[in-house]
Amino acid sequence: MTVLRTQVAIVGAGPAGLMLGRLLDEAGIESVVIENRNRDYVEARIRAGLLEQGIAELLEAAGVGERMRREGIVHHGIHLQFDGERHHVPLSELAEGRTVVIYGQTEVVKDLIARRLDDGLPLLFDVGEVSVEDFETARPRVRCVHDGAPVEIQCDVIAGCDGFHGVCRPAIERHLRQFSREYPLGWLGILAAVPPSSEELVYAHHDRGFALLTLRSSELSRLYIQCAPDERIEEWPDARIWEELQRRVALDGWSLAEGPVLEKGVTAMRSFVCEPMQHGRLFLAGDAAHIVPPTGAKGLNLALGDVALLAHALAEWFRSGDARALESYSAACLGRVWRAEHFSYWMTSMLHRFGDDPFERQLQLSQLRYVVSSSAAARSLAENYVGLAAGPLGAAGLDGLVAGAGLVAVPR
Ligand code: APR
Ligand code: PHB
Repeated sequence: MTVLRTQVAIVGAGPAGLMLGRLLDEAGIESVVIENRNRDYVEARIRAGLLEQGIAELLEAAGVGERMRREGIVHHGIHLQFDGERHHVPLSELAEGRTVVIYGQTEVVKDLIARRLDDGLPLLFDVGEVSVEDFETARPRVRCVHDGAPVEIQCDVIAGCDGFHGVCRPAIERHLRQFSREYPLGWLGILAAVPPSSEELVYAHHDRGFALLTLRSSELSRLYIQCAPDERIEEWPDARIWEELQRRVALDGWSLAEGPVLEKGVTAMRSFVCEPMQHGRLFLAGDAAHIVPPTGAKGLNLALGDVALLAHALAEWFRSGDARALESYSAACLGRVWRAEHFSYWMTSMLHRFGDDPFERQLQLSQLRYVVSSSAAARSLAENYVGLAAGPLGAAGLDGLVAGAGLVAVPR
């Protein structure tokens, strides 16, 4: 058996686990990251793609923002479309000049993996039989199998960054309260080799269901349509997807360009939060602790926000033995998490089709008209969308947090 000794054992090499490893290294703290998939799989997985400005700055401050700065596309507004009209919501004007950046989660993950391997830090792919043990003692352990041989990682702390279907949350489940909501909705998403038809994102409410136009680059569009949560992708040949998109986003004087579909998939929608996000020496971060429906574009931002707080708390603890930030890690995260849960639920409820209830539809339209006609309502959307409404990790919090973790904050 191989025995590894480290300070923090990180389970999961998604954005949360990889970013935690990066921030800890910056603070002089050792970690071992284990991942049950292989590198190609993790780097090919198409996921979300929108970063709040504060989170983009965190990536820069952590030394992994170089490609994002070059290739990411800064957005100052979004469009809301309903009743055959498209309305612009000027996010930056409404939310203290703040912006969001389109840069795929896949790219964030690639940058973090490259940096970790360049730094020569341990990252084990393709591990099996992962278990977390003794986290109620001062000597937690993570066990797994790597290259056919058993591995034991002895550590001070375990970070459960293994997503919604991981093993860390189930290991402490009986100490947690769990809140969840399943929506009767899914999103069918495609990546298409065609320049985006709209420079800014279009969130469209339509009688046939929601649609979203987003992008990855000047050559790549990302598009979504509302579908059933258990929709069979085999029933959606490319031509049918384009036809449905065309109907839902149609607008006089504008057209949606089509192109080869490179990737497609269906994601069911759910909201989920567990409280607290820690037990003993096991700390959960990202999708392992909470899920939001994607309509508010918050999942990736929350995951990276969690690990910024966790890295900061761990740095305090390892440096001085002061456990206060670590003890209040969960509480610090959950304020932001619940704000994002509400915003994501609100966007989801306003924009999707829920059955045939005409009353519901009128309520949605009334809300949409309010958002595009009242500056107070538009500001509320904008502040949430850019991440200003979320609390401690907001504009003011970031510099302190990044400085506290031993990093130099980037000037704005
Ligand atoms: N052992 C090791 N790794 C595991 C295990 C396990 N038992 N179970 C799952 N994993 C890995 C997954 O393969 C994945 O690479 O943990 C990683 C978790 O990554 P994500 O699911 O991407 O979660 P997170 O890092 O929290 O990022 C959240 O991902 O799903 C999106 O919308 C979400 O954007 C958000 C982001
Ligand atoms: C994306 O670009 O994939 C994206 C953007 C905004 C969302 C959801 C997904 O709300």
